[in-house]
Amino acid sequence: MRIAPTLNSVNTGEGKKYVRILDTTLRDGEQMPGIALRPDQKLKIALALEDLGVDSIEAGFPITSSGEFEAVKIIAREISSSEVIALARSVKEDIDKVINADTDAIHLFIATSDIHMKYKLRLSPQQVIERAVAAVEYARSHGLIIEFSAEDATRTNPEFLTRVFQAVVDAGASRIDIADTVGVAYPSSMARLVSHIRSSVKGNYIISVHCHNDFGMATANSVAGVEAGAGQIHATILGVGERAGNAALEEVAAAIKFLLGFDTRIKFDRINSVVQLITERYGLVIPPNKAIVGRNAFSHESGIHVHGILSHPLTYEPIDPSLVGAERRIVIGKHSGKHAVMFVLKQLGYEPRDSVVDAVLKRIKELADQGIKVDYKIVEDIIKEVAGGG
Ligand code: KIV
Ligand code: ZN
Repeated sequence: MRIAPTLNSVNTGEGKKYVRILDTTLRDGEQMPGIALRPDQKLKIALALEDLGVDSIEAGFPITSSGEFEAVKIIAREISSSEVIALARSVKEDIDKVINADTDAIHLFIATSDIHMKYKLRLSPQQVIERAVAAVEYARSHGLIIEFSAEDATRTNPEFLTRVFQAVVDAGASRIDIADTVGVAYPSSMARLVSHIRSSVKGNYIISVHCHNDFGMATANSVAGVEAGAGQIHATILGVGERAGNAALEEVAAAIKFLLGFDTRIKFDRINSVVQLITERYGLVIPPNKAIVGRNAFSHESGIHVHGILSHPLTYEPIDPSLVGAERRIVIGKHSGKHAVMFVLKQLGYEPRDSVVDAVLKRIKELADQGIKVDYKIVEDIIKEVAGGG
């Protein structure tokens, strides 16, 4: 076991806030229905996540099975530049498994909402606090870094949440996580909760947010949490996870960097290879319109947009695609205009007259109106036909 050399503070001291990224593709992401990975498959993904630059890799939930325990142990042994963390309920049996897997950190959790305490845990609020504190003290006595999650925090009485977090911070937790377990937060409610915890819990700790996507707001809520003072976000590649999934790492990391202007360690030029690995292992097809990594994220067809892009890319792109390892594509179709056709023809090595461009565009629109998808090969056929091969 070693402590990874990652930044652990909310502020770098250079005026630029640093936000930690805890990747949970191998834990919450593996809880996606129908997914089960072998230890060697999990290790391969962990190595790719380390290469991507995540601060912390949540490798799994060791109590789940012997294979899961093995996977976490191997990952803890092989990963050197990201922290390795594993999940445990606030019970000795789970904590012992994490201790034996020899990770850097432990992710302890207990539910704090009335509905969970009453119907799932069958514990009183006071008993929940006692369990949480006992778990933190026990894990701490074994030298583990402690991240503590209040499960269902966003449906928890905020005053009770403060009491729980204050108790675990006093017992030695260095990161406290607000889990939006069933995805009911929205940006302003998440920001309010982060601010409330920040101002009411005393001590030295980082606030983390763990957002689920049940209402499609996991990315927005994570960003709102960071804006309000969270120093870490939990995310998974492509947002894989339970039900509608978790916050998508590639989206949150890009928003933190390019919209909020904060630092992370994510190397976007590695994102595509990690995404490819996850799509293969998790059997996914990326929707073309998926933010940042979808095929259409930086594609342009409409005549007005292509004209703008060709004059200055920032007219219709929020950032240069190369900043997130993507490429710009000019797509030809029914909505194309003259500038796009001229651009594509030049790309194909032609220097056409205006009248030729007009004729090619007319033919493209005829084909598109018949439902035919016009690719560059078809454009080339059209220009040969229009120009009579000349
Ligand atoms: O969604 C959740 O509440 C969790 C906890 C284990 C943090 O994944
Ligand atoms: Zn979760």
